[in-house]
Amino acid sequence: MDKFKHLIYTVEDQIAIITFNRPKYLNALNSEMLKELSDVTDHIGADASIRAVILTGAGEKAFVAGADIAEMRSKNAMEGRKFSQFGNWVLSKLENLPQPVIAAINGFALGGGCELALACDIRIASTRAKLGQPEVILGIMPGFGGSQRLPRLVGLGIAKELLFTGDMITADRAREIGLINHVVEPSELLTKAKEIAGNIAAKSPLGVQFSKKAVNEGFDLDLERSLSLETEMFGMLFSTEDQKEGMTAFLEKRKPVYQGK
Ligand code: CAA
Repeated sequence: MDKFKHLIYTVEDQIAIITFNRPKYLNALNSEMLKELSDVTDHIGADASIRAVILTGAGEKAFVAGADIAEMRSKNAMEGRKFSQFGNWVLSKLENLPQPVIAAINGFALGGGCELALACDIRIASTRAKLGQPEVILGIMPGFGGSQRLPRLVGLGIAKELLFTGDMITADRAREIGLINHVVEPSELLTKAKEIAGNIAAKSPLGVQFSKKAVNEGFDLDLERSLSLETEMFGMLFSTEDQKEGMTAFLEKRKPVYQGK
């Protein structure tokens, strides 16, 4: 991939790592950075050799401290709408990547930063992380999905309290309410993220991809329709080499070697 201005992109052991890299501004998301995130997301979606993705922030202080307030200040209504539309479009692309995406939250994840984490599949945080949706402090509301994904993840009551007060919460509190899965020491954060990504990468890529799609597409359907979706997807996997290999390897008492086909 071409070199980015605001992101660092690396791939190791089939795991892509995207680092938001504007530490002077606590990695605040401006339009240029969002465009780069959109480009790198397209690239990852088209590269079947990548089995999992990790997002993290550069520097000691922040994952992403929100959308860029300096850029937003002078926007008019249509420009504000366009910014939200673009942010929601990019984050939905990220959410719908075939590969699982893990947010490794190393510091502030506020506003657009918390929303970015919400669009990921799995969230882990260091003890230094602080999360929140402080938009009401700025006279606005979340524009990158926070008013919709947060209640779906943590429930209506807790989400409304966070959205209406704008309060930041600690990593431990975020784990307590189900906003993040694990809290680790700062020095252990990337190791933990890579451990989870590696664990996923060792499994059948198609089984993982289909599981993600079934959860994402079935979650807002009624149970009957979502179970029907599961049945169709389950059936489809029996046309794959991954299924033959997985079951044959089990019966031959060896480790499966998956091709993602
Ligand atoms: N946008 C633009 N610049 C930001 C920023 C943001 N979201 N967050 C931090 N910065 C900048 C600061 O302006 C400062 O720049 P200067 O050195 O040029 O003054 C630099 O980053 C360092 O920040 P602070 O000096 O403020 O650092 P701190 O340690 O004192 O405070 C903080 C840290 C509590 C995170 C504080 O920076 C803060 O409150 N940031 C804003 C958080 C926020 O409101 N985010 C939501 C944005 S709105 C949004 O995201 C809308 C949406 O849904 C799409």
